[in-house]
Amino acid sequence: MSPVGATGLTMTNTHPALRRCWHPVARSNEVSSNPIRVLLLGQPLVLYRIKGAVVCFADRCPHRRTPLSLGSCDGETLQCAYHGWRFGGDGRCVEIPALGPGGSVPSQARLIPMAAVAERSGMIFVAPEQPIAPLAVIEESEDPAFEMGELPAMRARASIGLLADNFLDMAHFPFVHRGTFGADEAAEVPRYEVERDGWSFTAHREHPFANREDPGVAQGIRPLVQSRRLTYRLDAPFHLYLRIDFVEAGGSNVIGFFLQPETDESCRIYTTLWRNDLGGDPDAMAAAIKFEVAVLEEDLRVQEAFDELVLPLDQTMEIHTRSDRSTLELRRLLADLVVAADQPA
Ligand code: FES
Ligand SMILES: [Fe+2]
Repeated sequence: MSPVGATGLTMTNTHPALRRCWHPVARSNEVSSNPIRVLLLGQPLVLYRIKGAVVCFADRCPHRRTPLSLGSCDGETLQCAYHGWRFGGDGRCVEIPALGPGGSVPSQARLIPMAAVAERSGMIFVAPEQPIAPLAVIEESEDPAFEMGELPAMRARASIGLLADNFLDMAHFPFVHRGTFGADEAAEVPRYEVERDGWSFTAHREHPFANREDPGVAQGIRPLVQSRRLTYRLDAPFHLYLRIDFVEAGGSNVIGFFLQPETDESCRIYTTLWRNDLGGDPDAMAAAIKFEVAVLEEDLRVQEAFDELVLPLDQTMEIHTRSDRSTLELRRLLADLVVAADQPA
């Protein structure tokens, strides 16, 4: 593992190392047997379901390069919209109508596969080539005590690395989030620990905050100023998780932040909430989603303003302080990933 990123090294949205990583490409509920086109690392992909299982290929027919997402799926095979070639779930061409019944199919008539496709935490993930790091699990997404709420997917002109950096950043709240939760936040960031574990790291922080939503405050059971424990986790490359535990009032909020690098200039952002403190109240979840959309819009106002859509991995290109320990670890981990991606799979 390299302590310092190589000189001038940056992470772009389409860095070749990202081909050997898992990425989100859609929400589960966006994918049916009807083929759809998504963009990943500058490459168009087609996604659809066969008997419920998601399949993914390059969105290009091997015959005349027509986007396969124009075609249709009969539940077993995908039919290209141009000359009607049919492809099975393994990508092999099984029928060429112009050759008539029994016509022989060229052996190279097959779709370009992805190394791995998975469905987890309400999302579809794809690794174009053999992934270096495993696909992360959000345990709360499989815990029936937690209800899930999904923000509308958003598209931004942004750097995927800078968006991850922003999610992990602990010093921007009173400045960027003045209009939502930041007004009560202290500017000083207390010391916190960052623990690296393979292709992941976590950062823990506990701090006082004004719990204005706690009914126990109005009832005089608990004080207004309570403690909140924050656990941030990044799993390579950009699978982000934040768990907030309310120490006195109880209850936990989890935010999953999934970033899809579409092109050098574009990302699609999926934010999902898991909460165990809303008692099944749909209005409370709708309010929580609305609030998180406002928070994300505050972040995007800054992130979309960057001129250069890259995350520097060379640590000499920026200034780092002790309040930036988690975002510095992001740069180290991604620099290590770039080195690992150069080794044979
Ligand atoms: S381009 Fe797809 S069948 Fe001809
Ligand atoms: Fe933020």
